[in-house]
Amino acid sequence: MFEEIDSILLKNSDGKKKIYRNPTIKDLPKFKYIEKIFRESMRIYPPVWSIGRLVEEDYLIDKYTIPKGSSILMSQYVMHHDSRYYDNPSEFNPDRWTDEFKRHLPRFSYFPFGGGLRGCIGESFAWQEGILLIATVSSYWKLELIPNQKIRMDTGITLNPKNGIKIKSSIRSI
Ligand code: HEM
Repeated sequence: MFEEIDSILLKNSDGKKKIYRNPTIKDLPKFKYIEKIFRESMRIYPPVWSIGRLVEEDYLIDKYTIPKGSSILMSQYVMHHDSRYYDNPSEFNPDRWTDEFKRHLPRFSYFPFGGGLRGCIGESFAWQEGILLIATVSSYWKLELIPNQKIRMDTGITLNPKNGIKIKSSIRSI
């Protein structure tokens, strides 16, 4: 990630201090690795971890009839951790997101933004925002997880860390 940022945003370096420009919308297609990082983050910890629907009419899916009046829950968290689709699902591995992997992934095995008629209208904006944010922060900063902490999830409407996440931030030198 740092190599990618340096190759795109580094303006100059006098040996001691590196100066970066801010990323712009035109840089977006170049941040290929940051896109993978963001994609993988939303796989492991999907901000919207479950969505629900009320069934208005009896509805047939394969051999199952979902009766009118039922509530259905569809969980991004469950699907995104299913080993039928993701090898070592608990492992954070941005490199899994090759073009070929994406092409073969069944629809709705990855759906951080929902889908269909009520899919997220902010999806493309969120992709842009997330990628530019990671690139901007990580130009100057290195954020490292403090080891040996138990990160618990708070499953409200969106997924949050229950007691925060402790990180060490330092000005990066590489
Ligand atoms: C990482 C960021 C985001 C995630 C993970 C996310 C996720 C989602 C999901 C899963 C849904 C579908 C809910 C459902 O089917 O019941 C949704 C709907 C929606 N999102 Fe997002 N969203 C994000 C960012 C945004 C942004 C930036 C905007 C606006 C600028 C936005 C606006 C909306 C709206 C208005 C809906 C409702 C669409 C409808 O019901 O027709 N979202 N979002």
